[in-house]
Amino acid sequence: MAVGSIELSRKHFTHIRETLYRVCGIDLQAGKEELVKARLVKRVRALELAGFDDYLRYLDGDRSGKELKIMVDALTTNKTSFFREARHFEYIREMILPALRPKGGRMRFWSAGCSSGEEPYTLAMMLRESISGIDKLDVRILATDLSPTMVSTARQGRYARSLIGDIPPGYVKKYFARTDNDDELQVVDQVRSMINVGQLNLMDQWPMKGPFDVILCRNVMIYFDLPTKQKLIDKYWNLLGPGGHLFIGHSESLTGLSHRFRTVLPAAYVKESQ
Ligand SMILES: C[S@@+](CC[C@H](N)C(=O)[O-])C[C@H]1O[C@@H](n2cnc3c(N)ncnc32)[C@H](O)[C@@H]1O
Repeated sequence: MAVGSIELSRKHFTHIRETLYRVCGIDLQAGKEELVKARLVKRVRALELAGFDDYLRYLDGDRSGKELKIMVDALTTNKTSFFREARHFEYIREMILPALRPKGGRMRFWSAGCSSGEEPYTLAMMLRESISGIDKLDVRILATDLSPTMVSTARQGRYARSLIGDIPPGYVKKYFARTDNDDELQVVDQVRSMINVGQLNLMDQWPMKGPFDVILCRNVMIYFDLPTKQKLIDKYWNLLGPGGHLFIGHSESLTGLSHRFRTVLPAAYVKESQ
């Protein structure tokens, strides 16, 4: 397989596949060679290397881990949008919040694999719209992602106007401010301050203790193999409080995994109170 004079052999692909799996659990299936090549060939060129033999030598020799981060960033899919799979947010508003409200005002949400932040900001805006006197309550959203680039974008909360098309106009008016660039809007501090954004590789130890009321891990585990999914599902179960909910992506399922969640909606599960 050649791009200009640069080739990605089966051996290169296997090396990259094993590295990615070891670092972040992503299981690159056979057939993804074209994608790997297209995404990494730019990097090979930017480093002025002759090809993937040199690149993989460079990657393995870089003890700082910087190149590994760059490679992982290049190979992960960060596709997201505001109000993506909106039925989940409606369910949180209609079914979960009314049950949480009488419990003393502590509410904990985690967007695990938040990409550039659209998911946690959607949640924060929806919570502000739905809970009166929210600032007097103890409502926090944790948003984490593997990618430092995505974490930095999520932290900034600054988005191109073209990305906010799915947000109801009333929300845009209330929760976004103009910036020095006419093409970009900034999420207002009132919303940003509800969210802690941090870098976390889901394969590493998790520093937070919970319990969480809601965990969204949508369109993240789709790239993981069954044993990795099983480990994550068990950890989510342990971190959720009684009655806590787990949301995964609509194209995902818990089929093939052993778990005690009850399905409440497609791709939405509850940890039944015992
Ligand atoms: C397709 S995006 C999903 C974003 C959002 N949850 C949504 O549904 O719109 C998947 C995200 O998972 C992140 N990711 C992949 N592997 C990860 C890992 N091992 N730990 C943490 N995040 C990971 C990627 O960096 C990417 O931003």
